[in-house]
Parts: sequence; C-alpha cells; structure tokens
Amino acid sequence: MPIISRRTLLSSGLALSASSLLARSAWGRAGALLNGFSTAPAVPAIAPREQLLFDFGWKFQMGNGSDPARDLGFGSGQGDFAKTGDFAFAKSEFDDSKWRALNLPHDWAVELPFVRDEELGSHGYKPLGRRFPETSVGWYRREFEIPSSDLGKRITVEFDGAFRSVIIFLNGCFIGRNDNGYAPFSFDLTDFLQYGGKNYIVARVDASFGDGWFYEGAGIYRHVWLTKSDALHLGKWESTVRAEVGNGSAKLALATQVENQGKQAESAKITWQIQDATGKTVATAEAPAQSIDVDGCSKFSATAKLDAPLLWSVEEPNLYSAIVTVEVDGKVRDAERVQFGVRTAVFDADKGFFLNGKPLKIQGTCNHQDHAGVGAALPDRLQAFRLGVMQAMGCNAVRTSHNMPTPEWVEACDRMGLMMMCETRQMSSSPEGLAQLEAMVKRYRNSPSIILWSVGNEEWLLQDKMAEQGAKIAQTMVRRCHELDPTRPVSAAVNGTNEKGISDAFDIIGFNYGLDRPDNFHKEHPKWPIYGSETASAVSTRGVYSTDPLRNTVSAYDVNNPGWGEQAEEWWKFYATREWEAGGFAWTGFDYRGEPTPYGWPSINSQFGIVDMCGFPKDTYYYYKAWWGTEPVLHLFPHWNFEGKESEIIPVWVHSNLDQVELFVNGKSQGSQKVPHLGHVEWKVKYEPGVIEARGTKDGKVVLTEKRVTTGAPVAIRLTADRSEISADGEDIAILTVEVLDKEGRPVPTASNSIGFKISGAGALIGVGNGDPNCQESDKEPKRSLFNGLAQVIVQSTREPGEIHIEAVKEGWEGPELTGAKLVVITKKVQLRPAVR
Ligand code: GAL
Repeated sequence: MPIISRRTLLSSGLALSASSLLARSAWGRAGALLNGFSTAPAVPAIAPREQLLFDFGWKFQMGNGSDPARDLGFGSGQGDFAKTGDFAFAKSEFDDSKWRALNLPHDWAVELPFVRDEELGSHGYKPLGRRFPETSVGWYRREFEIPSSDLGKRITVEFDGAFRSVIIFLNGCFIGRNDNGYAPFSFDLTDFLQYGGKNYIVARVDASFGDGWFYEGAGIYRHVWLTKSDALHLGKWESTVRAEVGNGSAKLALATQVENQGKQAESAKITWQIQDATGKTVATAEAPAQSIDVDGCSKFSATAKLDAPLLWSVEEPNLYSAIVTVEVDGKVRDAERVQFGVRTAVFDADKGFFLNGKPLKIQGTCNHQDHAGVGAALPDRLQAFRLGVMQAMGCNAVRTSHNMPTPEWVEACDRMGLMMMCETRQMSSSPEGLAQLEAMVKRYRNSPSIILWSVGNEEWLLQDKMAEQGAKIAQTMVRRCHELDPTRPVSAAVNGTNEKGISDAFDIIGFNYGLDRPDNFHKEHPKWPIYGSETASAVSTRGVYSTDPLRNTVSAYDVNNPGWGEQAEEWWKFYATREWEAGGFAWTGFDYRGEPTPYGWPSINSQFGIVDMCGFPKDTYYYYKAWWGTEPVLHLFPHWNFEGKESEIIPVWVHSNLDQVELFVNGKSQGSQKVPHLGHVEWKVKYEPGVIEARGTKDGKVVLTEKRVTTGAPVAIRLTADRSEISADGEDIAILTVEVLDKEGRPVPTASNSIGFKISGAGALIGVGNGDPNCQESDKEPKRSLFNGLAQVIVQSTREPGEIHIEAVKEGWEGPELTGAKLVVITKKVQLRPAVR
C-alpha cells in the first residue's frame, strides 16, 4: 500500500482494534541483566598515531537559517567564500564569551519546545525545517592548541556523524562540508593549523532538511576526534581481516593500504600481529617492503593461520585483534588495531540461517537511535544499555533502521554477541548515495556482528513505478558492497512482492510485513533465502490496559496492530514455524520520538516499541522473552489497582513458556490452562481488590509464581541506579529508575506523581524521561512526572573522581507528603581516553 495513505491512516488511528483495561509495569529485571560496559574503547590508534577525543570544551550558539544578522553575519553579502582565511568567527579575535559551554555529543532538538504543527509530526513536533529558521541552525566553536612538535604530521578532524548539513571552518578558512545526517566525515587540517599556537575550529550545523521520517535530532550528536599520524600512514578503513574457517583452524586473509603524503618516496613493509582477547599474540604475518611514491599509495596483503580459533557467536562473542604496523627501515611509522571475529554466517534457502554451522533463527528488532532525555546524542554506555535491554528479552539481532549506526553501537554488538543488519540511509547509486554506502561498509566490514548489509528500506518508487531504474541502482549498490566486502550478503527491506525492480539484485530477500507474501515467493523462487526485514509494528502503551483515543493510549495487551502490521504473536508464529524463514526483525525494539503512531498530537512519539522510550518493558516484552529466551518465564498482567472498577470484568493474561498456568484471585482458583506453543493464556476475571496470583508448572511441578497486589497510596519515593559505581571520565552515565512506594513498600503501578531531582557532586543530570508517548514535559529540567509508576533520570560523571549525590523530592503538586529518596553513585578514577586539550 502506498506509504502516504498508510501514514494518513496511522494518524487517524483507524486501523486499530480496541480492547479494554488498565496498567502495570516493572522494569528492574531487564536492567539487572546488562553485560554492557561504560565507555566504548573505540580508539584503534597505536603509537605513533594519536586519536584524541575532541568532545570536551565546545561553545555553542543558535544561528539563524534566514537572517544573516542573527547567523554570525554568514551569507550577508556575496563575498563569504571570496578569499581564503576571511571568516572572522573562526579567528582568535572573535568573542564567544557569551556562548554556552557544552560537551559533545549534543542534540539541540531535544532541548526545543514542542510545537503543534502537522508538518512536524515526524520530527516529534520539534521546530526544525526551513519554516523554523530560529531553531534550525546551530554553531559550535572551539579553541585548541597544536604543539610545534606536531609539524610534519598529518592532522585530521573526524566526525562520526552530525545532523545534518555541516560547514567546517578553521583559523578563518573554509575547510569543507558534509550533507547527510549519519555517515562519518573527516577533513585534513594539516595545512591550515598554527603549530605552537592556538587554533579555532567552527562548525555551522544546519538541520533545516531531514533525511528520514522519524526524529533525527540536530547538531554534533556523535563523537568527534582529532587524529595525528605520520605522513606515511595506513589508509582510512583500508585494513581488512577475513577469516575462512575449516578443519579446526582459520585462514586469515590480511590486507591494507599505505598512503604517502610525505616529501619523498618511501619503502615500507607491513607486519600483522594477531592477538586474542587477552592480548596474547597467536599468529603473525608480514608483507615485504614496497616503494610508495609521494602522494601515492600501495596495497599490501598476507595470510596467517589461527589454530583452534575461538569462534564469535551470540553465546560467546570471542574477539581477536590484528595490530597492523607500517615500518620503514625498522622504524614504526604508523599502526592500528583492527578488531575482528572468526565465524561463519550462512543464509540457506531451505533451512534458514546458520551461525557457525548451527541453525539459528534471527530474533531481531529494528531500532532508531534516540532515547529519552538525550534525543540522538547518546553516551556510549546508553547504547550498550539499550542493547542490553533487547538482549535480556532474548533478542539476538538488531537492524539499524534506517541509517548507518554509530561505531559504539556496532562495537557493543561485537562485544555483547548481537548480530546486525546494517543499513545505509540513502538508496541511491548517486555519488552521495554510494559515498554513504562505502563509508558504512568500509567502516564496519571487520565487525563479526554484522551478518547482512541493507542498501535501503521501502523504496516504493524503485520497487514499482521506477522499477527499471530501481534495478540498475540496486545492482550498482550491491556490486559496490561485494567489491568492498565479498563475505556478506546484501539485501534491502522491501514492502512489496519482491518480484520486480530492486529485488533481483539482492542475495537474500527481505519482506516488510505482508505475511501473505513469503510463502508464495518461496514456492516461486525456492533457491532464494528469505527473512523478515521488518515485521509487527504492533502498538501499545506501557502500563495502560484500555485503548483510549481521547487520551492517545493503546492497550498493552498484544491486540493492536495497524492494517499492514501484525501482533507479536501473529508474526512470530509465522516466522518460527517455517524452517526456510531465517527469522525477522520486529518494528520496533524501543519506542522512538517522531512518527507518532497510532495518534498524532499531543503524542510526540511512536508506540511501536516493545519497550518504551526509556527502555521500561511493556508486557509484550515477556511474550518475546518467553519464546526467544532460554529461561523459564511467567509474566502476569495487568496490575491490580483498578479502584472504581469493582465487579467489572478484566482480562488477565500470562506470558509464559511453562506447560500450564493456574490463576488465583484472592486465593480462589480461576482454573488452570495449558500454555499453547508460541501463545499465551488468558482469563476474564471480575475485579475485586486484593491479589491475583499465577502459578506456572513444568512437568507437573510449580516452578514459578507471580503476584499482582492492589497497592495503597504512595508514601515514599524510591531511586535505584543501574550501577552504583561508574567511570569518572566525563562520559559514563548512571541510569536511575524512579518509583513511588505505598506504606508496605510496594511500587505503585499507576502513580503519576511529579518528582524533582537535585544533583550535586561529581556529575550532572543530562536527561529525564518517563516513557509516556504523550508527555510534553522538558527532557532537560530536573523534574519529571511518573508515567504508570516509573520515570528515568540519566546522570553523567565529570572527569574528577568522587560521588554524585542524587536526591528525589515531591515537586510542584498539592497532596499528601511523600518521603524523598537519596542515592549516591561513586565515580571512580579510570584511565581517560586521550583527548584534545
Ligand atoms: C515501515 C517503515 C518504518 C516505519 C514503520 C511503521 O513501513 O519502514 O520506518 O515507518 O513502517 O509501521
């Protein structure tokens, strides 16, 4: 169905079926299961190369997209670019003392107020675009020093991504521009720097145009780096390690490229040292010296053998590193660390997907990249946290819809054992489209987590009316992927029959929705592997048990999906029961800002998530956990706080993978039911306050029980942190859960109290949220109302070790007193990542 009419349908909410009843949710369990890490050690540089984090100590000011007078005079007349070195705002004399000091990553969109405007729905009602010139342009400025000892080195600034159109200036000079929101970009600053003195870098970031149809943020929302290397150096993302597994060993094909930007030809050789996860060298290789002309480059390759390699898998994500070193006359001129894994990943048309020769269903989720409180600017730890929430549900794969992910996301997948479908933003073989694709494939092709490249999503014109052009565009993109990475299949997410246009070019076929299509396709094309590139789009509001269009909420029972989508149970039963289906990716793991579905204003985010914007699970999380996970699951819902609904009938559901579940209401059995395979059990019960209890049996024995109790009114606040000790590196975060308790100490699942936060000591608040798709409170102020009993506070360490003191108090409402809560998070000294000072 054409997407336009679908989206119209979405905002009317017409495609939903209604159901009744109310709320409850608890999150703690998922949080406890994280095996993540704090700050990604994403610094592959090895001496003499330096890779310095360039995130700290920036100044920021809003510009203006239409009035040069309010945009630092930029574009006032004709001459801005006339002479090199003339941009006053990028020189020492410029006064930025009134600009705001901040650290990157930064997203100014999340700081903006919500604006009711139909055109802004996709962006979560944030005023970005050419009609909002006052809030669509931002300027970043930073002073930094370069010692005279750096003279002769190549010095490059590297942006992992920014939203969206960026112009970079240095020391009065225009340096370059980048025009997309997700691909990394870099500029060689060597010739423009002042050695032994101060330098001034300025970025004008213009978020007037968007790349997608979802919240994308605004600003330098990913890391920035300054790298210093010898004039004779390894090419960027040119080092590859490809492992071929067989007979208890792995043959490694090693390759790289060396570039010479020096003043004379050089004769360089390359050595490779292969290290296991403990740092022990397990193999070495060498490529003989070659002469490299001035401004020339040479390719090097070699092979090595790994005996009895520890394979990378979802259960044991074993990693290796290759230390690639450039040597001239025994002197190391450049080196880098390339992380890789040894594994096989095969899609089979008859039997689905195999990892290391073993069948494995892809139990995937699609995700956008924003989170409560921080928008698109996620600290590394938050990215690992989000993956941890998914992994604790039994999810084993993530699709980075619909754009290239951050390096920290990919690295976390490598370390945590999550597989990835890695997707580029623009489906095009234009120079820009191919450049985005190349950056993605080159940047991430050594990552074992990536099992599949995706060159696009739902390109309905290229699938249909422009099928002829679509076929050519897809062929060019697939060919380029294969050239850069012959080891992985290429696909795209297609919302159609896959019978014409782009699909012919793909190695494996992805279906978005449309469960009526794969069977037929499989029959017609029995040799083509198939998977679900996007499924479900089921909608639900955490802790709400009746759909209420007046409140923009959808019931959390697994009963609501838009016309093109499926409920969780529906799509998973389909994929799980077909051996030839490799599995699929549910839309979406997390709720996300923008694309407010199924309702429009005042909803500011989508309700597709299996967890909300904070990562608090909705009840369907436990459906997946039951059928995707390996542990016994028994999840009983709703909560049992339905004051005023006495004697009304309330559906009670249990998600479980046990044999049989018996339900009790105030001690009286409501009957025992067998749990259907890949299903759930439910009862209809007359509400009476008290307690409901589910008892789950396996082989006749009760193995799990769960209760929901009618609580009293809130009397106290409770604060819990995901970790009590974090790194004092100015990057790490603690993620706090806020709840209120009744006098028996039980969390009140329906509470909506507003809570204020006082943060002091060695950290600061960087965002708050509550997972309510309709909440328009600020993400940045130190207060938040609970949504169905929960809120989240994110605090970030400073670079000084110490203690962060967090206090939660009743805020801004009349009513009974609430005892406040206090919590201390310790920040411990760690080795700081090298950073620009
Ligand atoms: C798909 C699309 C996603 C999202 C989803 C909502 O068609 O690929 O980006 O819009 O629909 O159901």
